[in-house]
Amino acid sequence: MLFKRKTKREIDLTRLPNHVGVIMDGNGRWAKRRGLPRSAGHSAGAESLKKIITEANNMGIKYITVYAFSTENWKRPKEEVDYLMNLLLGYLQNAERDLAGENVQIRVIGSRAELSEEIQEQIIKTENFTSKNDGIVMNIALNYGAREEIVRAAKKLAADAQSGKTAPDTITAEDFENALYTAGQPDVDLLIRTSGEQRLSNFMLWQVSYAEMWFTDKLWPDFTPADFRQAIHDFQNRGRRFGGI
Ligand code: IPE
Ligand code: IPE
Ligand code: MG
Repeated sequence: MLFKRKTKREIDLTRLPNHVGVIMDGNGRWAKRRGLPRSAGHSAGAESLKKIITEANNMGIKYITVYAFSTENWKRPKEEVDYLMNLLLGYLQNAERDLAGENVQIRVIGSRAELSEEIQEQIIKTENFTSKNDGIVMNIALNYGAREEIVRAAKKLAADAQSGKTAPDTITAEDFENALYTAGQPDVDLLIRTSGEQRLSNFMLWQVSYAEMWFTDKLWPDFTPADFRQAIHDFQNRGRRFGGI
């Protein structure tokens, strides 16, 4: 079964990655090159995201996690943080309309306590509204940091041990996984990062253990569905051994 469109890149729909992670980077540089404020880059980036989700869903990918705001991004000027938070709020509010008929299930991962009440409430609304959708599961990583996620999981397991619900000796990797935000989801097997940076920036440290990494110099607002297909195509031509031979 081959999926073709415009480009000659052929994709084998029977061998899609189970879970794609995307570090959407380069919005600020995109804006700077155009002499625009960084906020314009973030808005353009949000448009890019919509197209990529549609593409991934049409292709039949089951899980995608997009890095929208890291636990470290609070270091940015308040004006930029506020703009990003508003943009994310708008994205969640409009998701019902924008994703109508696309069957996307939205989940938000990350620490919610630091987010405004308005965003926290909207997250619950959007998650509930899309919870019955059986198309792609889209995790939006918002105030997400992998170290926070891992510490949070360790605390949960420690509490279970303290209350006698579990014994420390019996804790397995699976138990640990089940305490992460991504409980029940497959590992990330393809990680895409745009903008030329080649680092993880505290993204899904546990889940990317065996992910194929795919980097492009393109800035996120310039990243197109054709680029996404290219990444999938390249993924399908990698030899994965998982420690075997
Ligand atoms: C990615 O673009 C979006 C977020 C981190 C929220 P950046 O804002 O990091 O853009 P650059 O890296 O400064 O170009
Ligand atoms: C990672 O990008 C976070 C998101 C894409 C949301 P950053 O731009 O914050 O990462 P660094 O600072 O270049 O590592
Ligand atoms: Mg960046």
